[in-house]
Amino acid sequence: MSLRIGDTAPNFSIPTTKGDINFHNWIGDSWAFFFSHPADFTPVCTTEMGRTSQLAEEFAKRNTKPLGLSTDTVAEHIKWIDDVNDTQNTSLDFPIVADAEHKVAQLYDMIHPGESETAAVRSVFIIDPVKKIRLTMTYPMSVGRNFDEILRVIDALQMGDKHKVATPADWTPGGKVIIPPSVSNEEAETMFPQGWDEVRPYLRFTDVK
Ligand code: BEZ
Repeated sequence: MSLRIGDTAPNFSIPTTKGDINFHNWIGDSWAFFFSHPADFTPVCTTEMGRTSQLAEEFAKRNTKPLGLSTDTVAEHIKWIDDVNDTQNTSLDFPIVADAEHKVAQLYDMIHPGESETAAVRSVFIIDPVKKIRLTMTYPMSVGRNFDEILRVIDALQMGDKHKVATPADWTPGGKVIIPPSVSNEEAETMFPQGWDEVRPYLRFTDVK
């Protein structure tokens, strides 16, 4: 069965371009953006790795560590990183898992045989510091992911945890947030002294910083 939001992210130990890691120890007190890509030396993957590297400061601001994975070897990853750096004008410094035996790809259901028997699709797992899976997303091999969305969803999750709020469609940081229906108006008065707009009893918007 595939992994679900709220599950504990399965732990594993594996070689990466930064040496062997134990996944849970490597995450430590951070969040993790764990993502698979089909193969080294392929065009869409090259742009995704470049974008992740270019956004290193943005991930760091969010206390989030990126970890890539494909079913290639460490030697292949290291050779390819030179190309990523050259073509994407960056200096890639996050680890990439070498899952040549498909151990982690199987554990995380990243291989979808309808696409490929041996290469991973573009899976995303956002994992929090207590190692819970907070988001899963799966893209086909032919479509590069939107990294603004990846940062946005991390912002939304962290904002939700901090203020016990939900976020509306197309929310971006600074936008109004939603008081969940599980919070009564009485509780909301203490939690949100700044007040709220009640569009419907179940649809209440407020501002948080
Ligand atoms: C790519 O990264 O360009 C790619 C990899 C595998 C299948 C299709 C595209």
